[in-house]
Amino acid sequence: MTSTTSLFSPVEADLCLLAENLKELVGARHHMLRIAAEHLFGAGGKRIRPAIVLLLSRAASPERQISDKHFRLAEIAEMIHTASLVHDDVVDESAMRRGVPTVHSSFGNRIAILAGDFLFAQSSWHLANLDNLTVVKLLSRVIMDLAEGEIQQGTTRFNADLAIEAYLQKSYYKTASLIANSCKSVGVLSGVGEALTEKFYGYGRDLGLAFQIVDDILDFTGSADVLGKPAGSDLKSGHLTAPALYALKEVPYLRTLVEREFAQPGDFEEAISLIHSSRGIERARSLAAQHVRQAVSYLSELPASESKQALEDISDYVLRRLN
Ligand code: IPE
Ligand code: IPE
Ligand code: MG
Ligand code: MG
Repeated sequence: MTSTTSLFSPVEADLCLLAENLKELVGARHHMLRIAAEHLFGAGGKRIRPAIVLLLSRAASPERQISDKHFRLAEIAEMIHTASLVHDDVVDESAMRRGVPTVHSSFGNRIAILAGDFLFAQSSWHLANLDNLTVVKLLSRVIMDLAEGEIQQGTTRFNADLAIEAYLQKSYYKTASLIANSCKSVGVLSGVGEALTEKFYGYGRDLGLAFQIVDDILDFTGSADVLGKPAGSDLKSGHLTAPALYALKEVPYLRTLVEREFAQPGDFEEAISLIHSSRGIERARSLAAQHVRQAVSYLSELPASESKQALEDISDYVLRRLN
């Protein structure tokens, strides 16, 4: 996994504290759920969402300070994200996450569903305690969007007619909404005014879309070692992502393979090799680059600072993950 340490340097100490807090926030009431939740928080992850919240909070503050509410917002964003991963791994029947066995493969589906619910509920509680109705609305919408994204994805499996626009909309729900609305919430909590708050939202949305497109490309180009999960698993499950959708436009035979759900021996391997020999991956990469450029453009009004620079560098990092 690419190191993100230097990238997050203006908020590195805050991120360490956040990691500790997250384990404690989960609470000690239910031993089994706590063990399950700690399991994932303990394994880490890139923490890109809280890093973005903290960096944006610093960049938007004239004193470059992070308030307690901003800090709590970063924790909530990571908690919502982690909850969605616990449930997602059940839906996707994924065995590995963050380089360790998933919650459901260690503790069973029942515990994983409860642990995910528990984390969502915890995040809602901490969210309500921010005492800011606008932020409550933004982030509870995100939880709806996450479910919407999973539903859209589940109902479009093996659909070779899926339009790239529908794929992007699903990616917004699944991934970009959380980053976008967390960024927007920073604007609300910082009182930077409506216009700049919308730009924060735009930064999060386009960065989030790029991040998901890149993650989808890595499913074709990455190794299990780097990904912390087996490669090619999206296509195998019928999730047609940007590289496959572009390849489908170029290679008519790919549609036949997808529509019969790779039922014949060698179908899946052939589909992978057709996608690799098409321009699908390259086109997906330029789509991601377009969103990264768009994301950076939203930061133009922020005064120069180390944190603003880090937010720009994070955008580059999203694409660099492909190298
Ligand atoms: C995984 O998110 C799910 C996607 C939106 C692609 P991350 O890649 O941020 O996962 P962690 O938190 O680093 O494990
Ligand atoms: C992750 O989605 C969960 C959400 C973004 C809600 P994916 O299923 O596409 O990502 P990985 O491959 O499991 O990380
Ligand atoms: Mg998954
Ligand atoms: Mg999934």
